[in-house]
Amino acid sequence: EKAGYKHFMAKEIAEQPAVLGDALRHYLRPDGSLNLPEELDFSGLDRLTLVACGTAYYACAVAKYWFESLARLPVEIDVASEFRYREPPLPAKSWALFVSQSGETADTLAALRYCAERVEKTVAVINVPSSTMAREADLALPIHAGVEVGVASTKAFTCQLLTLAVLALKAGRDRGVLSEADLAAHADALRALPGLMNTALGLSDDIARLAESLAEAQDVLFLGRGPLYPLALEGALKLKEISYIHAEGYASGELKHGPIALIERSVPVIVFAPHDRLFDKTVSNMQEVMARHGQVLLVSDAKGLQAAEQGTWARLKLPEVAEPFAPILYALPAQLIAYHTACAKGTDVDQPRNLAKSVTVE
Ligand code: M6R
Repeated sequence: EKAGYKHFMAKEIAEQPAVLGDALRHYLRPDGSLNLPEELDFSGLDRLTLVACGTAYYACAVAKYWFESLARLPVEIDVASEFRYREPPLPAKSWALFVSQSGETADTLAALRYCAERVEKTVAVINVPSSTMAREADLALPIHAGVEVGVASTKAFTCQLLTLAVLALKAGRDRGVLSEADLAAHADALRALPGLMNTALGLSDDIARLAESLAEAQDVLFLGRGPLYPLALEGALKLKEISYIHAEGYASGELKHGPIALIERSVPVIVFAPHDRLFDKTVSNMQEVMARHGQVLLVSDAKGLQAAEQGTWARLKLPEVAEPFAPILYALPAQLIAYHTACAKGTDVDQPRNLAKSVTVE
C-alpha cells in the first residue's frame, strides 16, 4: 500500500501533483470556468466565517488572505475549540465554512451545529464524502485528496487550499471584484501548480541533507509574511508533530516583538519568502536574525535567492509561482523538512506519539 515508499507520509507528499491535478479537474472546467454548485452565490454576503482545527485551521488562515484580497469579503477565522464555546454572534447575511479532512473532528462538528441555525448557509470542505460533517452541512465540497493515512496531514492540506482558492475566485467573480480575464489568469496560475510541485519534490534529497543538521536542533523558528505567515505556522506544526522538535511559526514582522530574544547560533530559522511584494520586508527581518547569528534556511525562488542569499546557512530554490497561490507550492518543502528531520531522528513518522488521525473526542 505504501507503493514502495518507506512511509505513508512520503507517499502522500509525493502524490500531491497528481491529486491536486484531480481536484483541479473537478473544480475548473477546461474552458477555465469554475465548476461549483449554482447555490454558492457570494454576492450578498456580509461575512464568511471559517472554522477548523490543526492543519485545516491553517488552510483557513491562508484562505482568509484570498477571500479578502480576491473577493473583498470580510472573513473571520477561528479554531473550533474556541469558537464553539465563545458562542459568537453571527451576522444574518453570513455563511460558515468548516474545513476538515476527516469530517468527524468533534470540535469542528460542534461548531457546525452551533452555526446551523444561525447563518444562511453552512458549507463543509471535507475529504471523506460519507462523513458526519458532509451529511450535516447544507453543502459539502470534497477536496479530492484520496485516502490520507499518515497522521501528519499533507495532501489534504494542499487540496484544502486548492478548494478554498477556487471558492475565493468564485466569490471574487460573484462580488464583481474579478473580471473574466482576472479569473482566467488565476485559473491558469492554479493549473500550473502540479508541474511546479513536481519541481519542488525534486528538492527532497537536498532537504534530507539539511535535515541531518536540523535534527540536532532543540528549537526551530519558521517565518513568513502575508499568506506565507500561516504556512510558517503549518511548517512548525508539522515539524513538532513528527520530529518532536520544539518549533514556532511567526509572522516575520512580529519577530522584534519578542521571539528575536530566542535567536542564537543553535537556532535554525526557516524563512518562506517568495520574491513577492513583501519580499524586502521579510528579508530585513531575516537580516536581523543573521545579525544575531541565527542560522537561516531561506526558501525562495531564483530572484529571491539572488537578492538575499548572502549570509544564509542554506537555501532551497523553488520555481516562481503566482503570488497569491505561493502557499500551495511552499507547503511541499515545509512537509519535506518535517519528514526528513523526523527520519533523521528515527521517530515514528506515520504514527507519532500521542496523536490520532481523527480527533473525535474534544
Ligand atoms: O480531520 P481534520 O482535518 O478535522 O483534523 C484536524 C486536525 O486534527 C489535523 O489537521 C491535525 O492537526 C493533523 N495531525 C495535522 O497534521
